[in-house]
Amino acid sequence: MELDGIDPSRIPAHVACVMDGNGRWASKRGLPRTEGHAAGEEALFDTVEGALDLGTKWLTVYAFSTENWRRPPDEVRYLMGFNESILVRRRDELNERGVRMRFAGRRDWRVPKRLLRQMDEAAALTEKNRRMTFTIAFNYGGRSEIVDAVKRLVAEGVKPDKVDEKAIRSRLYLPDMPDPDLMVRTSGEFRISNFLLWELAYSELVFTDVLWPDFRREHLFEAVREYQRRDRRFGAI
Ligand code: IPE
Ligand code: IPE
Ligand code: MG
Repeated sequence: MELDGIDPSRIPAHVACVMDGNGRWASKRGLPRTEGHAAGEEALFDTVEGALDLGTKWLTVYAFSTENWRRPPDEVRYLMGFNESILVRRRDELNERGVRMRFAGRRDWRVPKRLLRQMDEAAALTEKNRRMTFTIAFNYGGRSEIVDAVKRLVAEGVKPDKVDEKAIRSRLYLPDMPDPDLMVRTSGEFRISNFLLWELAYSELVFTDVLWPDFRREHLFEAVREYQRRDRRFGAI
């Protein structure tokens, strides 16, 4: 069985994924980078199914970072359209599966209005679902998220002696989201790339050489087995 060797009583409640390696997957095949992004869709939806199989309550994926605007305009434009089309084509099936969709990131002028509208519609359609919360980090940066939280603190006139971790956490993009237990990054890169900086403070990090378009639920299960071999101490002994 695929879930063999996984202890059902210690499933990570929140799994976060840095979906990386689409461009390299395409280049290896002599294809344009955008074909790698397109092939990442199957990986993403198989990962969603795997998370549902596991019973993970929260799944968060990094789809577009605040730094990804540095890419060539054609690739950026492709990613905007592609993400919009995924929402339009696949929100009903996610809804039928009991998945709540949410989005984390800056809604600035660079994100096309049509995409923002589809995000709002997908979130509204699925907001009552509770089997799993699937968060797409889009135009997301961990530093921006903290800056935005601090801006709100200042705007609300919070006094310095009232500034504590709770005050900052409650002003993050999704304050009710628990911190990830497990973060998986594909493509052999050993870095965070500005993903969930606050929230990853005590997450277990698992890195795999698999390129994102080749990632399937079995790779997720393997990451969970690795997670279950770790000893989480949170600073204690
Ligand atoms: C991840 O794959 C997708 C996004 C960042 C949008 P990349 O596009 O970063 O692929 P590589 O890392 O260049 O192979
Ligand atoms: C991180 O991947 C961002 C996403 C997966 C959306 P990148 O490919 O942008 O990260 P770097 O540039 O390798 O750090
Ligand atoms: Mg990359």
